[in-house]
Amino acid sequence: MSLKIIIVGGHGKVALRLAKLLSSRHEVTSIVRTPEHEADIKAASATPLQLSLEESPLSEFSKAFEAKDVVYFSAGAGGKGGEERTKAVDYEGAVKVFDAIEAVQGKKPRLVLVSAIDIRDPEKIPAHYTEEDIALSKRVRGAIPAYIKWKYEADKNLAKRTTFKWTMLRPGGLTDEPGTGKATIGRTHLSPTIARDDVAAVLALLAEREDAAGLGIDLVGGETPLADALDAAIKKGETDFLG
Ligand SMILES: NC(=O)c1ccc[n+]([C@@H]2O[C@H](COP(=O)([O-])OP(=O)(O)OC[C@H]3O[C@@H](n4cnc5c(N)ncnc54)[C@H](OP(=O)(O)O)[C@@H]3O)[C@@H](O)[C@H]2O)c1
Repeated sequence: MSLKIIIVGGHGKVALRLAKLLSSRHEVTSIVRTPEHEADIKAASATPLQLSLEESPLSEFSKAFEAKDVVYFSAGAGGKGGEERTKAVDYEGAVKVFDAIEAVQGKKPRLVLVSAIDIRDPEKIPAHYTEEDIALSKRVRGAIPAYIKWKYEADKNLAKRTTFKWTMLRPGGLTDEPGTGKATIGRTHLSPTIARDDVAAVLALLAEREDAAGLGIDLVGGETPLADALDAAIKKGETDFLG
């Protein structure tokens, strides 16, 4: 079935790959911040729409989400502009999108949010973590504390929402290596890294997985074909966002 899809953070490295994958079957709109990015969106066979999470009002997002089936959130400050900007985009921008979905009259679209693995209560180390996971978690938290903090606040906010269906995809470290079409998906360890191609492919599969609602799904490099690994994780029905 052809869906109406909108991607927030549409010119991002994952989002451009996602638009290319989705646009062969679905009607895709990609939100960009500058007209200079419109050509790249058109090259991905998607329709550009100019809005900024920091500048545009909630009502503009809500209007853009009307009559859409799926909203993807793949935006992020990318560490540019200090903690203030990370908070403004990764947290306040995400909450603006959640509120804008709630403000849609009639049928509300589903949300697929790109979060990250290991976004959790820093005081509670998950039972399945190995010594290697704990060491990697410590290293990453030391290197990018503001990112981890504001992503966690956004995810906690989303986890409480009940008026629309949502799924969080929680990839490990991203690379620009070519995708392998394989991964480990579901409750897993924090490594190895995963190609943006493979993250985009899993996001594309989630467009038609309404049954992933309410789940946080971890994703790292691995050996299981993506569709099989995702299907098994969804059928298990266990969220990897542990609060
Ligand atoms: N890097 C990692 O290892 C890693 C690991 C796990 C999860 N993630 C998450 O994966 C997601 C996608 O990653 P990526 O590599 O595709 O990121 P990316 O290339 O940095 O894309 C982020 C997009 O967000 C957009 N953005 C920034 N501020 C905005 C605003 N005010 N309004 C609207 N859009 C705005 C950027 O727009 P411009 O192009 O105009 O700057 C950019 O296109 C991110 O949410 C990231 O946090 C990353």
